[in-house]
Amino acid sequence: MCGIFGIISSDNNAPTSTYKGLLDIEYRGYDSWGVAFLKDNQFKIEKEIGFLPKDKTFESAEVAVGHTRWATHGGVTELNAHPHTDCDKKIVLVHNGIIENYLSLKKELIGHKLISETDTEIAVHLIEDEYRLTGDLKKAVSNVFKKVDGLNAFVVSNGSQIVAVKKGSPVVAGSAANGSIVASDPNAILPHTNKLLFLEDNDLIEIDKSGIKLFDAHTLLEKDVKYTDVDWKYQGADLADFPHFMLKEIYEQPKVLLALAENASAVTEIAEDIKKAYGTYFVGCGTASYACLTGVYLFSKIAHRHVNFSIGSEFTYIQDYIKKGSLVAAVSQSGETIDVVEPFQIAKRKEATLVAMTNVIGSTLYRMADKKLMLNAGPEKAVAGTKSFTSMVANMILLAYATAGDLKAGVEVLEKSAKEIEKVLEKADEIKALADKLHTSKNIYILGRGLSYPLALEAALKIKEISYIHAEGFAGGELKHGVIALIEKNTPVIVFVPNDETKHAILASAQEVKARGAFVIGIGEEETEVFDYFFRVADTGASSILPMVVFPQLLSYYLTVKLGLNPDKPRNLAKSVVVK
Ligand code: M6R
Repeated sequence: MCGIFGIISSDNNAPTSTYKGLLDIEYRGYDSWGVAFLKDNQFKIEKEIGFLPKDKTFESAEVAVGHTRWATHGGVTELNAHPHTDCDKKIVLVHNGIIENYLSLKKELIGHKLISETDTEIAVHLIEDEYRLTGDLKKAVSNVFKKVDGLNAFVVSNGSQIVAVKKGSPVVAGSAANGSIVASDPNAILPHTNKLLFLEDNDLIEIDKSGIKLFDAHTLLEKDVKYTDVDWKYQGADLADFPHFMLKEIYEQPKVLLALAENASAVTEIAEDIKKAYGTYFVGCGTASYACLTGVYLFSKIAHRHVNFSIGSEFTYIQDYIKKGSLVAAVSQSGETIDVVEPFQIAKRKEATLVAMTNVIGSTLYRMADKKLMLNAGPEKAVAGTKSFTSMVANMILLAYATAGDLKAGVEVLEKSAKEIEKVLEKADEIKALADKLHTSKNIYILGRGLSYPLALEAALKIKEISYIHAEGFAGGELKHGVIALIEKNTPVIVFVPNDETKHAILASAQEVKARGAFVIGIGEEETEVFDYFFRVADTGASSILPMVVFPQLLSYYLTVKLGLNPDKPRNLAKSVVVK
């Protein structure tokens, strides 16, 4: 989703640093970009629709702000792209979020020239008025911030200062040898410094040549600046020898699993909390929601314990039974997903214990949580989650085994599945050949039962979100309740057939679709005659879902490449969904 970067640089290189900063956060997803810097007492703005060009050069300047926009209010046009300016181009502003009351605020503007369809532009003109009255940029920003409804982050500059303020949307700052920086994502600051200042809601920072000052955004009382020393490595556009981040990240999965197995004791304390909790609720969105649903099956099967699951955006409607003593675990790669942050806020108000299962140290969920369980998957840049899903499920497996008092068994199944994933990866060419055959399909259906049901949902999401081929996952048992009407001659149907209690029933489902002409693709340990195509994945017990998910990950990747699309940057999608 929108990315923000701003710098006051001591080497007069602010526009180029800003452009590089935007490249570091472009994986979040965007449809236009812009960079503003001061030239002859006015801001010069370079904006374009589409992706940032490689190797662009800029003039030198001390101060610059930039933005990657993911359109919400107003179409994808150059005029709507950020930064936006006041009437005299003396103030620029970039924004992440939605100004919910922008129409009523617009009425306060008299005699201003607005040129875009965005809610954002209103804010910079309101700041222009306040700045004229106060002559103090932080006061002007604070006054406007107080009027604005919604979850928003603003970064504003008058050419000598940068002021940033936030509620909801993430903002991080850093003080480095080459200047002071503010951004929406730590990855853009890491090339400059590892000492990061994570802004809390209603924090405001003022940056000038002397450094960074922190204030309460409402009272403007100064606060202590406390930097967090992070030991993360900067992840630039390092693809190693891979053509895309998605493929690289798929291949990193065995390593991720082995590292989690080695550090399995990290789950022990949370497993104890789950045992004591009044009820446990796993909350996530998209791919993370399927990992949460996997948790329901795993806890039942391994720990004989009921845990609940909710899609983040639905939590509000089923939260009434949460109380003190409940445990709410937010599962999120980015740690920033607004539809998970809101359930966490509700759970906090109700005094539940908050656990963050996230990949990003210092993220919003991480900072809100009482306890953290790191996914330790390493940075994930492709929009489609792959290794993060694997890590979420692996953590669920370890938690379930630890709750059952047999963590060692959890470690063993993870180690087994890491080995089996290596074998699946060795056969990637077979999956590529299948993608060549299926890439003209209009629909692909995926069936699973038990643990393979959330797997079927995840497989369908992977296929549709990057290849744009319509794909749906179903529980095998649902076929006769309506789904079977969709099956026509040669409709591809992927069927997950692990060696578990679901095997006979799911093979019966495979027979039913085959009888209606489906092209049946079987994934499992044993080939049977019902399959028109078979891909062998050895059973690894409760972790079989892990090697099996690599099949749809690679299939969706190769379908997408065959269709001439970029799997790392699917249309309309953002890596981190921070607005509602
Ligand atoms: O960062 P999160 O794990 O909270 O993100 C949740 C979803 O937005 C994410 O899983 C999304 O569905 C991905 N595009 C899936 O590949």
